Amino acid sequence: MDNDYKYACSLKEVKPGTTKKVCFPGYAPILIANVDGTIYAVDDTCTHEDSSLSLGCLKQDKVKCTLHGSWFSVVTGEPTEDPADEPLERYSIYLRHDEIWINLTPIS
Ligand code: FES
Repeated sequence: MDNDYKYACSLKEVKPGTTKKVCFPGYAPILIANVDGTIYAVDDTCTHEDSSLSLGCLKQDKVKCTLHGSWFSVVTGEPTEDPADEPLERYSIYLRHDEIWINLTPIS
């Protein structure tokens, strides 16, 4: 694990089928999602307007924006429903014991 990874939260805080918003000073908020035990991290802010995706529900690998109803894949970051048409940034995850660490440089 390189120094770009920052501790985000405990795995216990993100049960399967749930999400959690985490914030780091100087960075956009990140949404952590637990899809059947696999952890993903994407931008928390909807690409349509500035709504927090942590307010929406997670169904399988997709999270819903509560403001206008777009769905995004937490695996690819891509929107699957209008009106959003830009993908979310994705972030690498490192699991150490029950700790979730995130690389704050988006996956390119
Ligand atoms: S702010 Fe998310 S769909 Fe409009």
